[in-house]
Amino acid sequence: MTPRVIRGAMALWLLASPAAADVDAAKVFEDKCMACHGKTGTPPKAFAKLGVRDLSDSEWHASRTDEQIRDSIAKGAEDTLMRAFDKELHSDEIAALVRFVRSLKTEASSRREEN
Ligand code: HEC
Repeated sequence: MTPRVIRGAMALWLLASPAAADVDAAKVFEDKCMACHGKTGTPPKAFAKLGVRDLSDSEWHASRTDEQIRDSIAKGAEDTLMRAFDKELHSDEIAALVRFVRSLKTEASSRREEN
């Protein structure tokens, strides 16, 4: 390959694959997840009643590995409102969301209800 072809291929690769560091996970969460899970991870009451997981729950965090969280986001949970996001989000975005979800953890005593 000529250097120009290589540069072209690299430019395409960069366009097609946002580096993990460039992903604004808070923004993606706001766009795709907040409606159900709430800004802080605690779902609005009406959604909690529909079975939406509280992503700030420290006990839930302790019960899941990062890999399990990644899978839930990528594949969704069958027969629930939680759909699979692997078609609409890049794997780097999903990895960034796992870290973001981890950052939502709070101890039960400091959890705040949202309406
Ligand atoms: C339409 C509502 C809805 C949207 C939008 C949604 N979720 Fe969920 N989510 C749910 C529900 C309902 C559950 C509980 C599923 C179950 O019972 O296992 C859930 C569960 C989860 C879980 C926990 C799975 C487990 O292991 O217990 C994670 C993590 C999660 N969602 C992350 C996300 C992320 C990240 C997004 C955005 C990309 C998102 N969700 C968007 C409704 C939603």
